[in-house]
Amino acid sequence: MKVFAGNSNRLLAEAICNYLNLPLGKATVRRFADQEIFVEIGENVRGEDVFIIQSTSFPTNDHLMELLIMIDAVRRSSARRITAVLPYFGYARQDRKPGPRTPISAKLVSNLITEAGADRVLTLDLHAGQIQGFFDIPTDNLYAIPILARDVKENYDLKNVMVVSPDVGGVVRARALAKRLDCLLAIVDKRRDRPGESEVMNVIGDVKGKDCLLIDDIVDSGGTLCNAAEALLKNGATSVTAYITHGVLSGGAVARVTSSMLKELVITDSIQPTTAVQSAHNIRVISTAGLLGEAISRTSQEESVSSLFD
Ligand code: R5P
Repeated sequence: MKVFAGNSNRLLAEAICNYLNLPLGKATVRRFADQEIFVEIGENVRGEDVFIIQSTSFPTNDHLMELLIMIDAVRRSSARRITAVLPYFGYARQDRKPGPRTPISAKLVSNLITEAGADRVLTLDLHAGQIQGFFDIPTDNLYAIPILARDVKENYDLKNVMVVSPDVGGVVRARALAKRLDCLLAIVDKRRDRPGESEVMNVIGDVKGKDCLLIDDIVDSGGTLCNAAEALLKNGATSVTAYITHGVLSGGAVARVTSSMLKELVITDSIQPTTAVQSAHNIRVISTAGLLGEAISRTSQEESVSSLFD
């Protein structure tokens, strides 16, 4: 078994290798003068079970192309099996046609990864579970919920906690966390008029006097999150903390979060935190290295991955 990584999330890849007690495979990803990507695998992979770790996070297209080219390089070097490990799967939000004459880019990206030569995919908290079906190769979608729930238990008095979904689409995820914590559930009914903008309408559930925990898969502009936090506090919540798997945090999102009423935003390292994220007073990053490392190990040993979530 060998593990390689592109440039998107070296820190996580190293932490995963640490968990696996393996060195990170030697690979160089370089640029030609015109920015074409060139990859060189620096060690023999013939007959190996190869895992390539790469989040297709910002700059999304560059990181996606790096992943595709790495898969191609490893395939042409006669690896026995290639698993593309995407802690964050970019383009997942484009999983259906929002209107006429629009693409389903999540499907296109799935096709590209398969065509490049991946035999399996391992990912985390897909924006929509059904994206698994976009791949005709085995695809494991891991859940961050056990890691998030452990952190909540270590930091909160569960008696006063209410789990909140920031929109109707996220209710299944929020319900899963509420069930694990044995807590009540509330929902923020969000309406979005234009892409990239969000507007809070109603809070469904009595959040008065509660420590609210917002749970979501992605924080991008931070609009959904900050608006939901404001609505909860207006409805009498004592405090609002957010647990979100993928800290996309584009543009001015970090500033938006630091100047918001949020007590804390807890994200995972599925996307490598920027220095702005690392120095934000109310953003904390928890690691998925153990979860991803264990899933990689089980995949390699042909053991159950789903039992990680029993
Ligand atoms: C939407 O369905 C997702 O689950 C997130 O709520 C959304 O992507 C967050 O985006 P933003 O932070 O830009 O509001």
